[in-house]
Amino acid sequence: MKLIKFNLIFVPVLALCLGCIAYITRKMLLDDARQEVIQNARLILEASLSSRTYTTKQVAPVLQQQGFKLQAALAQIRKTIELLSVAPDSNAAKDLRARDKQYFMLGQQRLWEAQQPFLQSLKEQPEELADTDFHPQSVTASAATESFNYLREKFPDYFYKESTLNPSNPRDRATDWEADVVNLFRNGRARDEFVNTRDTSTTGTSLFLARPIKVTNVSCLECHSTPDKAPPAMLRLYGPDNGFGWKMNEIIGAQIVSVPMTIPLQMAQTTFQRLALWLAGAFLCILLVANLGVAIAARPRRKPDDSIPFQAV
Ligand code: HEC
Repeated sequence: MKLIKFNLIFVPVLALCLGCIAYITRKMLLDDARQEVIQNARLILEASLSSRTYTTKQVAPVLQQQGFKLQAALAQIRKTIELLSVAPDSNAAKDLRARDKQYFMLGQQRLWEAQQPFLQSLKEQPEELADTDFHPQSVTASAATESFNYLREKFPDYFYKESTLNPSNPRDRATDWEADVVNLFRNGRARDEFVNTRDTSTTGTSLFLARPIKVTNVSCLECHSTPDKAPPAMLRLYGPDNGFGWKMNEIIGAQIVSVPMTIPLQMAQTTFQRLALWLAGAFLCILLVANLGVAIAARPRRKPDDSIPFQAV
C-alpha cells in the first residue's frame, strides 16, 4: 500500500523532471544546429565578398592596364602606318645622276605601290584589335555570382544571389519573397542582417541570411544612374532599360545566402532520439531503485524474540 502511494507521487514527478530535461535538451540541440547553419551562411557570404574584393583589387586593374597597353601599341601602329603611307620623295634622289634617279624613283614607286594593299589592310586592323567590349568579369557583383555558380555545381542546394529590385542583369531580379526581404531593409524594419527560414519543395527547410546592398559610392552611379553616363560598351550589352535610376545611399537590393537545414536538423534529431533512449533507461533504473528502497524501508520490523532467555552474566 505504501509502495503504491509512493509511486503515485514519485512517477509523475520523475516523468516531469525527465520530460523537462528532454525538452530543454532538444531545444538546445536544435538551436545549436541553427547557429551552425547561420555560421555557415555567414562564411559563404564573406567568401562572396572576398571574391568581390579580389575583382576590384586585382582583376579590374589588370584588365584596365591591359587596355592601356593595347591602346598605346595601337597608337604606335597607326603612327608607323602613316609614316609608311607617304609617297616616295623625289628629293631623296636629288644627288643621283639623271638615269640612276629615274631607276631609283621607279623602284621606290613600285615598292610604294606594292606596300599600299598591305598598309590598307593594316589600317583596318587597329579598329578590330582595339578591345571595345564590356567585360562583366570586371564587375564585382557579377564576379561574386559567377564564382558561386561553380560552387553550386557541387552543392546545388546552396544559393547566393545579389537580389535587386531593378537589376542590370535580369538574372539578379528579386523574386517575390526576395523583394519582401529587400523591402524590410528599405523600410528600416531590418538593419544590418536578417535571418529566417523558409520551406521549399526541392530542398526542404532552408535558412537564409540577407544583408542590404546600399549605393555608398558615387562611382556606382556612373553605370547605374542614367544610361547616358554609362559606358557605351556596357549599354550595347545590357541595353538602356534596366539597372538605372539608382540613387546615392539607396538600398537597391540584398545579398541573400540560402543554406539547407535538412541535414543539421536530422543530425540534431538523431542525437536527441539517442538521448531520449538513455533518459527512458534512467527513468526505469531510478524507478526500480527507488521502489526497492521504499520496499526495504517499509518492510515490517521483527519484534524482539522473547523465546531467548535473558542470560545473566
Ligand atoms: C563599370 C560599370 C559599373 C559600375 C561602376 C558599377 N556597376 Fe554594378 N553592375 C554593372 C553591370 C554591368 C552589372 C551586371 C553584371 C552581370 O551581368 O552580372 C552590375 C550589377 C550589379 C549588381 C547586381 C544586380 C544587377 O544589377 O544585375 C549590383 C548589386 C551592383 N551592380 C551594385 C553596384 C554597386 C553598389 C556599385 C558601386 C560600388 C556598382 N554596382 C558599380 C556595372 C557597374
